Amino acid sequence: MRSACRAARYAGKRLGFVPTMGALHEGHLSLVRAARAACAIVTASIFVNPTQFGPNEDLAKYPRSFERDCELLEREGVELLFAPAVGEMYPTADGSAGPMQDQNLADRACPELAEGSVRPTQNTWVTVEGLSDRLDGRSRPGHFRGVATVVAKLFHAVEPDAAFFGQKDAAQVAVIRRMVRDLNLAVKIVVCPIVREADGLAMSSRNAYLDAEQRRRALVLHRSLLRVQELAGAGERDVAKLRVEGREVIAGESSVRLDYFEIVDPDTLEPVADVAGGELVAVAAFVGTMRLIDNILLASG
Ligand code: PAJ
Repeated sequence: MRSACRAARYAGKRLGFVPTMGALHEGHLSLVRAARAACAIVTASIFVNPTQFGPNEDLAKYPRSFERDCELLEREGVELLFAPAVGEMYPTADGSAGPMQDQNLADRACPELAEGSVRPTQNTWVTVEGLSDRLDGRSRPGHFRGVATVVAKLFHAVEPDAAFFGQKDAAQVAVIRRMVRDLNLAVKIVVCPIVREADGLAMSSRNAYLDAEQRRRALVLHRSLLRVQELAGAGERDVAKLRVEGREVIAGESSVRLDYFEIVDPDTLEPVADVAGGELVAVAAFVGTMRLIDNILLASG
């Protein structure tokens, strides 16, 4: 991967990179298209990163559709795909490449990756202090340490000029931006808007696991954000009031369990007291066992 990417760069070609965990949908493809528009060579990665899943999360059940993903990326004209096995990305105790268990080639969930079966032995981690404990990081301890570490590893493999991320994962964007700034990484971070289904549901690989009734209920996330956007647009500046309104919309859909509903600074992820413009309104909620997230940015003042 390194030599293929270097060859492209030495030829003077701008290299764009789209990191993913596969199970691709239009949200991912929008990033590929943005990279295509801005860069001569487009690289994507598919790697279901074990270190960003908690012990009771859905690593083993995470959807996988490698063959189809490859077709979609090929159709978009992606030149290079990096789909490493776990043992290539994480060292093992004996220094070998590890079990080259090729999770990517499985066109199915991977029960063999069940809880605790993947224990990287490395001692070095990228921790973006402060930010990593907010929003999703508060609900998913260790999640952003896994994300920042794997993204740093992927950046080292690809050495892209620009990397493309979705606003869908707003806290992830804040963490990656801060990592790039703090570590002086030479990569431009480009953030692309959330791609939604026609009815407003933010596209997500995890939506595949919702049944028809849950899918209908899941629309409440977007509705709660629109409510806050509407009130803020009508002049409400009090964040405490806006949060109550947003939470009430979620509470109106019984059987959807709120994780967080926050109005924060999009860069620091710290709560704000008043709406001045440009704040991030972010929600996470469980629909059945599936944890879904969504967000909007308020119009800048
Ligand atoms: P994954 O969930 O596969 O998402 C890959 C990229 O697609 C992320 O930047 C995400 O924000 C973006 N994306 C997902 N749904 C989107 C939507 N509806 N609209 C726009 N963009 C969307 O995020 C990850 O993987 C991982 O944490 C990763 C960065 C690859 C590190 O493992």
